Amino acid sequence: MTDTPQQCDIGFIGLGVMGKNLTLNLADNGYRIACFDLDQDKIDALLAQDEAERGDAPARIVGCRSYTELLSKLNAPHLIILSVPAGDPVDHVCHHLIDAGIQADDIVVDTGNSLWTDSVEREKQYKGKFIFFSTAVSGGEIGARFGPSLMPSGDPYAWTRIEPVWKAIAAKVDPTTGKPLVSQTIGKPVTEGEPCATYIGPVGAGHYVKMVHNGIEYADMQLICEAYHVMREALGMTPQEIAAIFRDWNEGELNSYLIEISAEVLEQQDPESDQPLVDVILDRAGQKGTGLWTAVSALQVGSPAQTIAQAVFARSISSLKAERVHASAMLAGPAKPELTDEQKHAAIEQLRDALYCSKICAYAQGFQLMDMASKEQGWTLDFAEIAKIWRAGCIIRAVFLQSITNAYEQDEELPNLLLAPFFVEQIARYQANWRQAIAMATLNGIPCAAMSSALNYYDSYRAGVLPANLLQGQRDYFGAHTFQRVDKPEGKKFHIEWSDPARPQVMIKK
Ligand code: 6PG
Repeated sequence: MTDTPQQCDIGFIGLGVMGKNLTLNLADNGYRIACFDLDQDKIDALLAQDEAERGDAPARIVGCRSYTELLSKLNAPHLIILSVPAGDPVDHVCHHLIDAGIQADDIVVDTGNSLWTDSVEREKQYKGKFIFFSTAVSGGEIGARFGPSLMPSGDPYAWTRIEPVWKAIAAKVDPTTGKPLVSQTIGKPVTEGEPCATYIGPVGAGHYVKMVHNGIEYADMQLICEAYHVMREALGMTPQEIAAIFRDWNEGELNSYLIEISAEVLEQQDPESDQPLVDVILDRAGQKGTGLWTAVSALQVGSPAQTIAQAVFARSISSLKAERVHASAMLAGPAKPELTDEQKHAAIEQLRDALYCSKICAYAQGFQLMDMASKEQGWTLDFAEIAKIWRAGCIIRAVFLQSITNAYEQDEELPNLLLAPFFVEQIARYQANWRQAIAMATLNGIPCAAMSSALNYYDSYRAGVLPANLLQGQRDYFGAHTFQRVDKPEGKKFHIEWSDPARPQVMIKK
């Protein structure tokens, strides 16, 4: 079949893995697409795949050789979706579209992993030339193809035009069970259920929420890795045995995409060496920056997100492979305690509970960060809706997201997920094992920075008194930074004249 549609509904630029799959997903949902990429091979590959998938049906996608041709193929006003690498490439494409004659009421949607502040700047920069709209996408290549989680933000008028498109291609959730409705059948998208796409707020808000999603993703992954590490090193289990434990955990409260794929990775044999694949993968983690951005934002906003930050640091220390190998021959650790089978069995249960409680804390940190950022930016984020659109399609999808949805639906002003009655009860039930698991890892000299930082977050958050009183005393001593008193009205500041032997206390006026 060589017929091509005359006029198209949507222009698509950038046909890498995500772009190609989003385009096919749009086509499956009945949209006619004009596409462009600087690499003609990518256009050809997409057209070939479209032809193979649609069989005798009319062409759904037309390839273009320039930005001008792309605009000429679209119904006006134009709707153009970008899937290009974050950073300068987004602006390059925007400038080419301006040169090609894009109009003020045309919409350009950036779906890359852009820094949220870049989206804010772009909306201002391109105002009057076209409407810049942002939509963060999660779900990897399979999500893009069969239903991603979408976090759109920007001009509300643009949203009215984009909403039906995003709701059509997004992942869907069964509203009664909260579970994903999955179809990976080409040409047969899921049409019923609740779409994992909701308007997040002004431009930038969607990418901020996706950034925090990725911060949580980093924490979630690191926590699973720490549980694996303890089972491997302290309990002497094989990757296959650990995979079986993960499969078992996946039947309960820990049910999630990340646990499921971890089991699959651990089950995989390396065809070359006939060892477990995990044993031949170099233990040096990569990162593209979104976890780092989340940690930086948490520091800037002043929101405690230590488990997310520890997950980023865990990747940093993993990358010092040569140094670690050198240090491993020099730095002593503890003698590893011998465990009976019964103790090992108990330890696995403790690790499960530790992973679950730590995960609750990582999500609590992420939602607390979004809450503080939302107040700072004036966004009024809807956390029940955000939890809802993470129930399917995205990398952190898990049954657990339904419990978070419920918590925010019951109390939209909830100051912290840890205070939701459901999570209060869950942590009370499992915390003894959580503490035991961290003690076991520590006694065995196995790092568990994310798990222990989560417990520290929990213990700090529930502490009515922290040693910041001493810290304020120290600050006042060396820097006259003043302190407040528990027995005086808030805001009144005091200072001790430390150099005066009589150490008089003065109240600071102003
Ligand atoms: C998603 C993923 C996606 C990507 C990460 C990987 O939600 O679909 O988070 O955005 O896989 O950016 O990030 P790192 O390379 O930093 O691990």
